[in-house]
This record gives sequence, C-alpha cells and structure tokens, in this order.
Amino acid sequence: MTKQTLGLEKNLHEYLLSVSVREPEILTKLRQETAQHPMAMMQIAPEQGQFMSLLLQLIGAKKTLEIGVFTGYSSLVTALALPEDGKIVACDVSDEYTQIARRYWEEAGVADKIDLYIAPARETLDKLIADGEAGSFDFAFIDADKSGYDDYYEYCLQLVRPGGLIAIDNVLWSGRVAEPEETQDNRTRHIRALNAKIHQDQRVNISLVPIADGLMLVMKLSNP
Ligand SMILES: C[S@@+](CC[C@H](N)C(=O)[O-])C[C@H]1O[C@@H](n2cnc3c(N)ncnc32)[C@H](O)[C@@H]1O
Repeated sequence: MTKQTLGLEKNLHEYLLSVSVREPEILTKLRQETAQHPMAMMQIAPEQGQFMSLLLQLIGAKKTLEIGVFTGYSSLVTALALPEDGKIVACDVSDEYTQIARRYWEEAGVADKIDLYIAPARETLDKLIADGEAGSFDFAFIDADKSGYDDYYEYCLQLVRPGGLIAIDNVLWSGRVAEPEETQDNRTRHIRALNAKIHQDQRVNISLVPIADGLMLVMKLSNP
C-alpha cells in the first residue's frame, strides 16, 4: 500500500487499461488512424477520454468548449457523452488536422453537435464573449498551444458557468514541470506558471489528476 500516487510501470498501465477502458469502436478506429499521423503524440489517451466522458455525464454537461481539436479524439469523446441536444464549440487553427475529425464526427452521427471554428482560439473566444455567451458553458477543455494556456484559462473562467468545469491537459508535461527552473524551455515555463497561479486562485476549486500527462480540473466558484 502507498499514500503516494503510483507511477505506472508498463505492465500496471496495461492492466489498468484492460480492466477499465470501454472504448467505443468509432473511437478505437479514430485512435488507430491517428496513430499513423506524424503528430500522433498530441492525442489524449483513451483512459483520459473515458475519464472526461464520465465527468461530462456526472455534471450533466450540455454545452462545452474545446480549445485544440487535432484529429478529434477528445471532441468525439465529448460529443458521445453529451445529450442529443448537446453543443460543442471547437477551436483549432488547422484545417488539415480537423478534416480527419470532421470525417469521424460524421461517421459517428454527432457532427450536428459540433461547431468548429478554424481560427486562432483567442479570436473565437473573443467572439463568444462579444456574442454574450459568457457564463453559458458547462465544461471547457484546454489542449492547444502552451503559450496560450494562461489566456485560455482566463477566457474559460469567463465563458464557463459558476459550478462549471475547466479541464487543462498536459499539466505534468512528461515530468518536465518538476525539473530545475534553468533547464526549462518556454512551454514548460508556461505550464509551470499556470499551475502555480491556479494553485493560489481563490476563484476556483481544483484537483490535479495524474492521469496520462496530467489533467488539472478546475471548478469555477459562484462567489469567490
Ligand atoms: C494537443 S493537440 C489537441 C489534441 C486533441 N484534444 C485530441 O484529443 O486529440 C493541439 C491542437 O491545438 C491546435 N492549436 C495550436 N495553436 C492553436 C491556436 N492558437 N488556436 C487554436 N488551436 C490551436 C493545433 O492545431 C492542434 O490541433
């Protein structure tokens, strides 16, 4: 028994997957296609997708925001977890990556739930706020360029309703966040600074879940 979170060796990770992951066939197919992509490492892990799906169902999410779509794994997880009348606003800059996502959204029959904006996320988020959508999202997933993370966090705090959830990916960044300051590249510094900021942020309740590359869960408080 240990009070410290276990680092998962390969065999224990495989065991975890074998007794927990129930991946729908369409997600397996997308994951297998993405595995051939040169940027495949950008996709979230299946156990993380399933965890997010459970969270979405637990909070009864109907309207969500995704910043960073790539080939669509997390957005498809989300779309499958939302009710029939659920909506996702999805942001990405790449038409090429998201062509793959669109194909799978169609095949899964969830394309109607997803509004994809191909533009730098800040533009789309500004537009949502200008259109009066602040406070209207139940859930937001941040998984794009790390230099934008702090801004995306602040945008999401405006766009998510009180009691809503923000999930931020890669916050453990393969362990580099814990390396000495002087060895850190810019992306590591951005993530590290945001983790430290969120830790002190009285506007939210938090938990950093050491699943996959680290997922920061942030619940927006009603009256900080
Ligand atoms: C880590 S991947 C997202 C992975 C995805 N969530 C999944 O489950 O497969 C990051 C994505 O962010 C997109 N991106 C990078 N900079 C961006 C920006 N400024 N605005 C919006 N999207 C951006 C990239 O094109 C890429 O598709």
